[in-house]
Amino acid sequence: MSTLNIEGLSWAVDTRRQPRWLLRDIGLQVRQGEFVGLIGPNGSGKTSLLRCAYRSTEPAGGRLLLDDEDLWQRSPRWSAQRIAVVLQEFPQEFGLSAGDIAAMGRTPHKGLFDGDTSEDAALVAQALAQVGLASRADHPFATMSGGEKQRVLLARALVQQPGLLILDEPTNHLDPRYQLELLQHLRGLGLSTLASFHDLNLAAAFCDRLYVIDGGRIIASGTPAEVLTADLLQQVFGVTALIDRHPLHDYPRITWITQP
Ligand SMILES: Nc1ncnc2c1ncn2[C@@H]1O[C@H](COP(=O)(O)OP(=O)(O)O)[C@@H](O)[C@H]1O
Ligand SMILES: [Mg+2]
Repeated sequence: MSTLNIEGLSWAVDTRRQPRWLLRDIGLQVRQGEFVGLIGPNGSGKTSLLRCAYRSTEPAGGRLLLDDEDLWQRSPRWSAQRIAVVLQEFPQEFGLSAGDIAAMGRTPHKGLFDGDTSEDAALVAQALAQVGLASRADHPFATMSGGEKQRVLLARALVQQPGLLILDEPTNHLDPRYQLELLQHLRGLGLSTLASFHDLNLAAAFCDRLYVIDGGRIIASGTPAEVLTADLLQQVFGVTALIDRHPLHDYPRITWITQP
């Protein structure tokens, strides 16, 4: 299991030769086996920050340390052997089955001409079973529902046997049952995980710690109970909420207050 340490990270895009700073002085840690959530309004920088964390976008400044090694001093392959990613968009794969997609998770661990081994096949079967798709291995990926595709992509990430799992709004395509199943399953894996969340109640229920990003800056972090206050939700999301304890569990519950 890996640790991730992000220190003083910044990132800008050029607009008419002027840098527009989209991430500023970001500090974030994922400790071994910790499930860390990233929350913030639309356009606050969640996806951009995750892209930096899985070595897709090179930051302008700061450091990203995976197990104390600088990610940008190592090869893309090195990070692909250690970090698995589940993104919001689905790959446009025609003709490939769910099993084929899941098997792609082995790629970073193989040489150019290595074929699939029985060990690979066993990992794929195990991962598909873990996401409840054991009987769907031969089904065409393109014709699966959004929720099934999401679970196939999680299977691909598990097949990769990563030390760190990064997920961008992993439950967006899922109905409540699969949202809960997927998150319960992810927690049960005990992997170091960094995930962005749209649904704050899900973030409260499943995350050990949360970071709040707004306008490209981390403006709060801590346990869900520390972070999810009515003041913060008003300030960051511009909405009024009632916060109490979940009646059955020890985490906060958010009830949105709407005008009658
Ligand atoms: N490659 C890019 N070029 C220009 N602007 C970008 C790029 N990527 C993201 N942005 C902008 O950065 C901001 C943050 O985007 P994003 O990280 O996708 O936010 P979130 O995931 O929190 O909704 C948005 O204003 C978005 O338009
Ligand atoms: Mg996003």
